[in-house]
Amino acid sequence: MSTIDIENHLGITFCERLPLSFTHGKGTQVWDEAGKPYLDFTSGWGVTCLGHSHPVLVAAITAQAARLMQSPNSGFTYSPERAALLQLLQQVLPANLSNAYFCNSGAEANDAALKLARKITGKHKVISTQGSFHGRSFNTLSVSRGTDNSARYLPLLPDISFVPHGDTAALAAVIDGETAAVIVEPIQGEGGVQIPPQSWLGEVQALCRQHGALLIVDEIQTGFCRTGKFFALEHSPTPIAPDFMTMAKGIAGGFPFAAFAVSAQVNARIQKDDHGGTYCGNPLGCALSKTVISYLLDHNIASRVQLSGSVLLQALQGLQQTFPQLIRQVRGAGLICAMEFHEATLARQLTLRCAEAGLLVVPTRNGIIRLLPDLLVSREDMEIAISILRQALQDSIA
Ligand SMILES: Cc1ncc(COP(=O)(O)O)c(C=O)c1O
Repeated sequence: MSTIDIENHLGITFCERLPLSFTHGKGTQVWDEAGKPYLDFTSGWGVTCLGHSHPVLVAAITAQAARLMQSPNSGFTYSPERAALLQLLQQVLPANLSNAYFCNSGAEANDAALKLARKITGKHKVISTQGSFHGRSFNTLSVSRGTDNSARYLPLLPDISFVPHGDTAALAAVIDGETAAVIVEPIQGEGGVQIPPQSWLGEVQALCRQHGALLIVDEIQTGFCRTGKFFALEHSPTPIAPDFMTMAKGIAGGFPFAAFAVSAQVNARIQKDDHGGTYCGNPLGCALSKTVISYLLDHNIASRVQLSGSVLLQALQGLQQTFPQLIRQVRGAGLICAMEFHEATLARQLTLRCAEAGLLVVPTRNGIIRLLPDLLVSREDMEIAISILRQALQDSIA
């Protein structure tokens, strides 16, 4: 692996970094400071859905930056880019979601949804799932169990309970008339690509309706075609009509941007000054997000992802057959795939071996590696990635 002069990179570090510093990218490839190329099967945490420096995004950001980046009195005023994005979103959102608000990160979108759900219902109790990840702000940390550091920040938000992801009976046992909201990822991402039974989301929705709790569906990692549907809730055989849906990551292809959408009933309960933010709905983010969504729709990327996803999953299953002593399970939905190991430490070792060989993957806690290539990844690049993984697994036995 190339080394960098760490002295030039001092800053606050909250994690064990890889000694890599990247300068540029094109499609699925990125290059480090020394000019070494890598295949990026991380998409920068699932963000660069059209690959790096896609010409349509470069053109959109350049044109919009030359026109207007931030509106005067942003939030008090409108912009044509925001209007165009709102219109386009209506084509892809679940039909019941009538209004959307744009913000800057996934945590911010979830934070606002939790805050508003409590205000609207007048109740405090929130139910989340074990292994979930909804962000690192205080509200979102309080409803996350995918990170193991919440105990450092006690006391967290009160009245939060956690039930196993995918377990309807466990939810039925804790939900009651005091529950303000249930927040769920349709497929857990940071938790290691945990795919619940297909009927689960519909059952969660039914329990929410029965007890007057609001349903917050977090599509931050799974949205924008990542799982082979525009949103992962579309995999449910029962139509899902969430009260809130939160979105980020792929929404603007690499530009920090996010959104939450609400039902007409929720929107009717929103009052002036309930929420806001300096950059919310900035024209630059709106222009980029509109470009991403148009591209995904015009090129039917959801179908492409279904196809590429099944090829990638089959290849991973092949690796599991070859290395059953190392790989416990492989999972995938579209282009979010996971490889879980018997030995937890293997995930980091393999991540380093793969990086050395020119493949970037995402290590997840609990001995899992995630593969999140961009949605336009080619067959050839998937084959190269699999052969690098195969060699790295082989080297782990030797
Ligand atoms: C499902 C989910 N929700 C929320 C977040 C937080 O998003 P952000 O890092 O943009 O705050 C993430 C980030 O990984 C996520 O995967």
